[in-house]
Amino acid sequence: MSEQAFPVLTIDGPGGSGKGTIAQKVAEHLGWHFLDSGALYRLLALAAINHSVALDNEESLAILAAHLDIEFIVIAGQEPKVMLEGIDVSLDIRLPEAGEAASKVAALPSVRDALLSRQREFQKAPGLVADGRDMGTVVFPEATLKVYLTASVEERAQRRYKQLKEKGQNVNLSTLLDDIQARDDRDMNRAVAPLRPAEDAEIIDSSHMSIDEVFDNVLVLLDNCGMIAANRRN
Ligand code: DC
Repeated sequence: MSEQAFPVLTIDGPGGSGKGTIAQKVAEHLGWHFLDSGALYRLLALAAINHSVALDNEESLAILAAHLDIEFIVIAGQEPKVMLEGIDVSLDIRLPEAGEAASKVAALPSVRDALLSRQREFQKAPGLVADGRDMGTVVFPEATLKVYLTASVEERAQRRYKQLKEKGQNVNLSTLLDDIQARDDRDMNRAVAPLRPAEDAEIIDSSHMSIDEVFDNVLVLLDNCGMIAANRRN
């Protein structure tokens, strides 16, 4: 893996693998920037619904993506607040329907192109932790360390269920399992930037691991490739 101005750690994987939690925790630990690329696709899907743009209207969606008025407000120890056109949509973008719609717009090549430079703008000093599906394969192919975090479909459905229940949302486990499977299928089998581990990715299966265990594993990997030491020097 080659050197670059500001180090990037990419964490890719399917929905519910825990990559968002881990990426955020590592970013906070290192004092690095955090890119939740899935949120960009979710925000675009929400904007499309708000502006009555069909989720298969590639041309209009690409224009909407290029002009997306969004802001991430980082608050230490909390999930970042996500704003769309000045409105707090932090909860709305996490709804299963938003994920489903995001997966549809994310399959369109012009949409992915339109969001590419916006994602790369997150690569700033002192470093970036980028969470998504194609962070290591497409957006940051030169990343210093690439992690692919996965878990069984059943385990991921259980985690999503717990997460949404805790947020007070009314969800059904078997519907969630079907949704996750359908989303995996679409994300892994699309023509552009399909979800798959980069050739040089470190694969972690978190099915039987706690968040702390995965976090420790990632720190060891960071240490092994000199990223932690580099960060301490800065
Ligand atoms: O990680 P997430 O569940 O918030 O992502 C929502 C959808 O966005 C997911 O189904 C696929 C898409 N996505 C993508 O195609 N590429 C990314 N880098 C991140 C998300």
